[in-house]
Amino acid sequence: MTQRRHVIGMWVGLVVAVASGCGRPGEGPPADPLMDVFRHQAQEEGLTRIQTDGKRLFAHYCVTCHGEAGTGDGQNAYNLEPKPPDFQQSLPLHAVPYRRQIIESGTAAVGRSALCPPWVRNLSATQIDTLLAYLDALAKPPAVPGPGGSKQ
Ligand code: HEC
Repeated sequence: MTQRRHVIGMWVGLVVAVASGCGRPGEGPPADPLMDVFRHQAQEEGLTRIQTDGKRLFAHYCVTCHGEAGTGDGQNAYNLEPKPPDFQQSLPLHAVPYRRQIIESGTAAVGRSALCPPWVRNLSATQIDTLLAYLDALAKPPAVPGPGGSKQ
């Protein structure tokens, strides 16, 4: 009998340990410090959640040509002719369906060069929506002027 109680006690102890110790209660997947920094920065830039997702994809797929701020100065831009445009200048000239067509099917699909590749096979419709939302943010001048005051 005492031995049985012992065994039950052990199980109760184990369950309590698992419930409290391991896997902090109330939290979802394990913390990702890099992602936290990224989200914090995006919040400071005044981005919505969808735009933040778009920014992450943009950093992964587009920055190499378009540059960090979409100004057309990515590390691969010097190889390209025509160069990627400065989104702040160019995007206000284009409606969202045209931007979507470029992201999905590449600039060749709208009669321009073949230098901006099509993404429809690599990215889901939702991912493309987040990119479009982020392009909206890039098309506008930054809300907060950088150090040293205004941009120009
Ligand atoms: C290999 C380099 C490269 C990559 C990668 C790239 N682009 Fe481009 N993109 C270009 C170039 C070059 C142009 C201009 C092409 C032209 O005018 O013929 C362009 C043009 C565009 C335009 C039209 C801009 C305007 O206002 O005229 C959009 C929108 C765009 N890219 C979005 C994206 C997005 C979103 C991604 C990532 C998912 C991306 N591009 C990845 C090179 C690239």
